[in-house]
Amino acid sequence: MRQCGLRDALALRAIRLEALTLAPEAYGSTYRETVTWPVERWRSLCRRGNYYLAHSEGAVVGMVSGGTNDQYPGTKWLYGLYVSPGARGTGVATQLVGAVEEWARRERASSLHLHVSDSSRRARAFYDRVGFAASGGFVTMSRDPSVRLTEMVKNLE
Ligand SMILES: CC(C)(COP(=O)(O)OP(=O)(O)OC[C@H]1O[C@@H](n2cnc3c(N)ncnc32)[C@H](O)[C@@H]1OP(=O)(O)O)[C@@H](O)C(=O)NCCC(=O)NCCS
Repeated sequence: MRQCGLRDALALRAIRLEALTLAPEAYGSTYRETVTWPVERWRSLCRRGNYYLAHSEGAVVGMVSGGTNDQYPGTKWLYGLYVSPGARGTGVATQLVGAVEEWARRERASSLHLHVSDSSRRARAFYDRVGFAASGGFVTMSRDPSVRLTEMVKNLE
């Protein structure tokens, strides 16, 4: 598990495109738009210091990021969590969420928010287990308004 550095730009691209290929229903962006991004855009994400990659036996097997949300000023959010199928059920996802929790604490956040698609049953079960609870808020996915996203929040205090 480590924070993305400049040398990780292509690895971040690869794991993100894997996520958008194997679990497209979980994300608001698409493979089609993301595959066109120039490498400089991936380098820029890696420079921000809030992207994390999980490694196993020399391969990247997961990713996550922390960030803000213009619709909810002053809050910190977890985005893009993904673990490769072969690494699921191993604790990698818990480590990735832990890295974003630490980032949010460093940013002096008292809570961490996320949106999870109602069709992502495994993700929902995972978030329940690691301490997130439904806040009562819902939004729809902008690229497909038929998909409902549940807001979940974890208290960090
Ligand atoms: C979401 C994700 C990161 C979780 O990582 P993981 O390693 O699979 O998580 P875990 O195995 O530790 O936990 C998943 C839980 O769901 C349960 N589960 C497995 N399949 C399930 C299913 N089809 N429906 C409901 N629960 C399921 C597991 O038993 C486990 O619960 P338990 O620990 O109480 O037994 C990973 O599954 C993933 O990358 N999925 C595809 C992308 C995605 O949905 N990302 C989330 C975007 S919000």
